[in-house]
Amino acid sequence: MKVGILISGRGSNMEALIRATALPDHPAKIVLVVANRADAGGLATAAAAGIATAVIDHRDHADRAAFEAAMDGALRAAGVELVCLAGFMRILGNDFVNSWRDRLVNIHPSLLPAFKGLHVHERALDAGVRISGCTVHYVRPEMDSGPIIAQAAVPVADNDTPDSLAARILAEEHRIYPAALRWIAEGRVSIYGERVRIRDSGCG
Ligand code: GRF
Repeated sequence: MKVGILISGRGSNMEALIRATALPDHPAKIVLVVANRADAGGLATAAAAGIATAVIDHRDHADRAAFEAAMDGALRAAGVELVCLAGFMRILGNDFVNSWRDRLVNIHPSLLPAFKGLHVHERALDAGVRISGCTVHYVRPEMDSGPIIAQAAVPVADNDTPDSLAARILAEEHRIYPAALRWIAEGRVSIYGERVRIRDSGCG
């Protein structure tokens, strides 16, 4: 399965996906990494791994529709079958999301549906939750919503700061995103309404 990744920054989740898919038996292959900023650190990481990269800067386009049409064109030209968002910091419009329906996934650093949006770790600590975590999900037009593919729970420590909690959650992100991608590429993930069923994942 040919995979495209959209990033805006350092791309550590992208790197985890690249590393996992480099294994010879892996059914997914990353064919393109697109960043909406030329200074996204992940671009160099992807290039060093021999993966095609493109910068499609939203500021170079008249409006969101034009920006998304450019991304869509690049992804389709590369033969992409599944798009992974990995720290992509632009909200995607309905047309883009709907045209990639069930072929567009995201990772979010909370246990959705709790703490959608930004400043997640700060908000989790302010709310006093004892457990946070991360979620891989199919993308629907409403932000940080859609059928959940994988989650990992991370206990909150009494002395956690947003940074310390983020670091422990990020380690789990790097574990569950490649796992979810493998399940999808192996054709084991089915969507029933808002729920996902995974065949033989070892998680029920
Ligand atoms: C991650 O925490 C991810 O969950 C969120 O943005 C962050 C991106 O980090 N969507 P990286 O660029 O993958 O290192």
